[in-house]
Amino acid sequence: MLLKTVLLLALVAQVLVLENGLLRRPPMGWLAWERFRCNTDCNEDPKNCISERLFVEMADRLAQDGWRDLGYVYLNIDDCWIGGRDAKGNLVPDPKRFPNGMAFLADYAHSLGLKLGIYGDMGNFTCMGYPGTTLDKVVQDAQTFAKWKVDMLKLDGCFSTPEERAEGYPKMAAALNATGRPIAFSCSWPAYEGGLPPKVNYTLLADICNLWRNYDDIQDSWRSVLSILDWFVTHQDILQPVAGPGHWNDPDMLLIGNFGLSFEQARAQMALWTVLAAPLFMSTDLRTISAQNMDILQNPLMIKINQDPLGIQGRRILKEKSHIEVYVRPLANEASAIVFFSRRTDMPYHYWTSLARLNFSSSKVYEAQNVYTVTSSVASRIKPTSH
Ligand SMILES: *[C@@H]1O[C@H](CO)[C@@H](O)[C@H](O)[C@H]1NC(C)=O
Ligand SMILES: *[C@@H]1O[C@H](CO)[C@@H](O)[C@H](O)[C@H]1NC(C)=O
Ligand SMILES: *[C@@H]1O[C@H](CO)[C@@H](O)[C@H](O)[C@H]1NC(C)=O
Ligand SMILES: *[C@@H]1O[C@H](CO)[C@@H](O)[C@H](O)[C@H]1NC(C)=O
Repeated sequence: MLLKTVLLLALVAQVLVLENGLLRRPPMGWLAWERFRCNTDCNEDPKNCISERLFVEMADRLAQDGWRDLGYVYLNIDDCWIGGRDAKGNLVPDPKRFPNGMAFLADYAHSLGLKLGIYGDMGNFTCMGYPGTTLDKVVQDAQTFAKWKVDMLKLDGCFSTPEERAEGYPKMAAALNATGRPIAFSCSWPAYEGGLPPKVNYTLLADICNLWRNYDDIQDSWRSVLSILDWFVTHQDILQPVAGPGHWNDPDMLLIGNFGLSFEQARAQMALWTVLAAPLFMSTDLRTISAQNMDILQNPLMIKINQDPLGIQGRRILKEKSHIEVYVRPLANEASAIVFFSRRTDMPYHYWTSLARLNFSSSKVYEAQNVYTVTSSVASRIKPTSH
């Protein structure tokens, strides 16, 4: 019986794996959008505008402040970098804001042991109105990104029809593959179709994309975090099984270090995104981030859990009347990560539970660690972990 089960799982996994071999663990890095948006005014705001300077400075911080060595290796550009198309129809960056071009930025990232991500849009325009990648430009743009030595493409979906997206996303996956350069593919496609079957075919997505945005853009507020969490939990029976090594659901960026979350809310987002096996894309100013927020984002045990090799997305298993929720993510070596999440708004609450209530065998012995209070050594076997 056990043998049968194992074989069946192996079969399913094989069908779902995207064959470019990339992102066997959720990607980690920095993405410009949530914090820096479409600020293009480099005269008024030279430090914070979308420009070569911003990405070079973030690359330096990623390399020098411990981020890269913990796995935060992606330096990802979002919308508002494009200057137009040249006479041959090739995309070119804004010449004032990216004076040395994108190949320079990719080389710079690579010289620091980082990877460069870029942004495009399957449609007439990007969401902010810059030139998009229409169906006839898909192959050309893939070749441009490969020539620049880009390592990831986020392809947005503004200004296109469902039919164009249904043709364009698989076409881009094939075009990226044809360049011969390993380029991780982040698809915004499902978010434009409501994120659910039958409009969204997650089997197909897992075949062509390494990660995909299922739902709304995150905004800098706790309300936004909760709305995304609620949507993911409501649809966890659909979403949880489709995630795995090489193909991840993406609930969008981490807000930690910005203006909308309290300290406890920041810790909660980090823990929830970790059990959801979510990509960990920070979007904050790494030049000015506080030590407290760095501690949340650089928690080694948290990162180890997020990057667990089994790549199983966690689920909410309990929703108590007390407004405590319990999330569990199975990990390698018979370990589990557990999040006890309080939605209460009154005061700290003493929640009592038992191994039996959480479906852990009471005939075994468990070692528990609190991820946020572990200070030094990281245990190699993480038994139920709570925070
Ligand atoms: C894209 O542009 C073409 C040509 O101008 C136009 O016919 C089409 O309606 C546009 N599509 C969308 C979704 O805006
Ligand atoms: C392209 O696809 C083939 C077959 O799926 C795969 O073996 C190869 O690694 C892919 N190459 C790139 C560059 O993604
Ligand atoms: C979803 O996509 C897969 C892979 O392309 C395909 O085999 C399957 O028939 C599709 N499912 C539906 C319901 O369209
Ligand atoms: C515990 O397992 C039982 C039987 O598999 C299941 O019905 C129940 O929903 C599980 N409870 C939790 C909290 O996961």
